[in-house]
Amino acid sequence: MPLALDAIDRPVIKAWLKESDEAALDALWQRADEVRRACVGHAVHLRGLIEITNHCVRHCTYCGIAACTGPLQRYRMTMDEILTCARQGRDFGFGTMVLQGGQDPGVTGAFVADVVRTIKHETGAAITLSLGERDDDELRAWREAGADRYLLRFETSDPVLYGRIHPNLPGTVSDRFAQLLRMREMGYEIGTGVMVGIPGQTWDTLADDIWAFRDYDMDMIGIGPYLPSRRTPLAGALGQELAAAPGEQVPNDELTTLKAIALTRLVCPDTNIPSTTALSILDPAFGRANGLCRGANVIMPNLTPPEYRLLYEIYPGKAAVHETAEALVDGAVSLITVLGRTIGRGPGGRLKP
Ligand code: 5AD
Repeated sequence: MPLALDAIDRPVIKAWLKESDEAALDALWQRADEVRRACVGHAVHLRGLIEITNHCVRHCTYCGIAACTGPLQRYRMTMDEILTCARQGRDFGFGTMVLQGGQDPGVTGAFVADVVRTIKHETGAAITLSLGERDDDELRAWREAGADRYLLRFETSDPVLYGRIHPNLPGTVSDRFAQLLRMREMGYEIGTGVMVGIPGQTWDTLADDIWAFRDYDMDMIGIGPYLPSRRTPLAGALGQELAAAPGEQVPNDELTTLKAIALTRLVCPDTNIPSTTALSILDPAFGRANGLCRGANVIMPNLTPPEYRLLYEIYPGKAAVHETAEALVDGAVSLITVLGRTIGRGPGGRLKP
């Protein structure tokens, strides 16, 4: 019997994730695209990504800029450098700027508040922050300064796996969910996400992750494949130790990532979902387009200056230093046009029915 596409529950999500029949999957892709069109429309929102610091105090075992990653030149962008990028984003017509970075106490609460106020004043754009786990006082001050949204992926809903891939992290996955909910209380739109195919992620885990997106009614959900990053523990012995049995381990491939995106669209119909950079790295020719045709409605072109982008390689290939911001934006705009979609105007926040 074909799998359900209506009233999807957790066991059905798991069964869809494991589905390999092409005709069945065509029905999933089609339904995800219909739900996307009905609930968030034709617009693809462009968010200008500015990677403001590659310093990080965390030891996330998958991440190329984690504190413990071998010799790496570290940088923090100045106010002027950040503003130059934000102005460029404004000139491209972007309705949102995303300030992302490692968890870096050297980027102080006061500095971020100042940056948020200045960008807001100069560009009028919505501002998304993605700066790790910070104190509630700072988060509140940033919100008061004008920040609109906050991204903090929970990475996996399995508490044991979460602990293994985040050693030295004071805090559990429940703490991370609690922080997301506190940020929502502060008035932020909240975003989260996971990587597909991290060692130790089983079909049950990924189904639970997708179910958690729905349970927590997330406003934004980023899903990309796990790409092993040189010199990180998860790319080496730790990954081998954690890998689930064959048949149980979720592969870190494009098909599984696309299934996760499509299913997320079905269970969170009006959420904002980016077609992620990690997906486009796995499949440079079609990854981005495939994401947009199977549930995604956001692209985040990178505005970080090339000399810093080079140093923000959280996974291999991410830096794309040969492409200028103009080329990245041109590529995104032509893709959106070819797909018969439109460029989103305005802040592009979540439109709840
Ligand atoms: N492969 C894919 N995604 C990664 N991230 C970090 N490291 C990797 C990797 N090796 C993702 C995490 C993080 C986001 C900023 O990038 O999910 O939250």
